Amino acid sequence: MRARGYAIIILSRQARPDSSGITTVVCDLTNNESIKQAAATIAARTAKVDVLVHCAGVITPQPVGRLDSATIASQIAVDLTAPIELTNALLPIMPRGGHIVFVNSMAAAFPLAGSSVYTAAKFGLRGFARALEQELRPRRIQVSSIYPASVNTPMLSQEMAAGGSIYNFIDPPQEPDVTAQRILECCERGSREIFSSVFDKLFTHACLTSMRLLNLSLPIMKLLGRRGHRRYLRGLTTRP
Ligand SMILES: NC(=O)c1ccc[n+]([C@@H]2O[C@H](COP(=O)([O-])OP(=O)(O)OC[C@H]3O[C@@H](n4cnc5c(N)ncnc54)[C@H](OP(=O)(O)O)[C@@H]3O)[C@@H](O)[C@H]2O)c1
Repeated sequence: MRARGYAIIILSRQARPDSSGITTVVCDLTNNESIKQAAATIAARTAKVDVLVHCAGVITPQPVGRLDSATIASQIAVDLTAPIELTNALLPIMPRGGHIVFVNSMAAAFPLAGSSVYTAAKFGLRGFARALEQELRPRRIQVSSIYPASVNTPMLSQEMAAGGSIYNFIDPPQEPDVTAQRILECCERGSREIFSSVFDKLFTHACLTSMRLLNLSLPIMKLLGRRGHRRYLRGLTTRP
């Protein structure tokens, strides 16, 4: 986005020195006051926000029955409440022709056993994005969602260390710059929902409408996931 000439404001829990075209505003997305403060700081620094990208996310796999309240709250806060609050706070300074992009997940359409809270938050985020898209049409502000499968980031390794889903490895995890490219695509082409492939899109939608198809597919997906995971681990050990 910097290469396209955007001035970028990043929200992060950690303060970082400004670099060319990038400013960091400190914000903890689990804290509503912090979100409001960050939105006020942004509004004081810039007259308008052309593109708002919601990318932060957390996943903590835990089986229901052994969920702890703090991890329920933090996942719902970062993955669902914060994007809603931030959109609400920044929409007044978004101009006609602006764009809101949600980095969602395949978990918004494909239920992940063991990560039910993350799944619930991402399903919810999809609902919010779709309603918002309708709401903002008259203002000509576009709303897009991206649904990556798995991405090679700290989230993936933390998720797997905590017993994450083997389905993450059905296809090799993408590199984060693929998601960055998709964010640009959303802004430049006005795409509403982007999945990693047409197959991912059609298959998840078919599973959403048919529980029977979902249940029949799971054993095959598990096999493919296990095979992909072994390949991924071999790749990690042979990487220089
Ligand atoms: N990795 C995957 O396999 C995968 C697959 C599908 C979808 N996604 C989605 O992609 C998005 C990005 O995930 P990622 O893989 O890049 O995860 P990541 O490597 O763990 O990075 C998460 C980001 O979220 C921010 N964050 C977390 N908690 C925060 C909080 N309380 N306040 C402010 N910022 C917070 C962190 O910012 P700071 O540390 O700077 O505060 C960090 O930059 C998420 O929405 C995720 O659901 C990821």
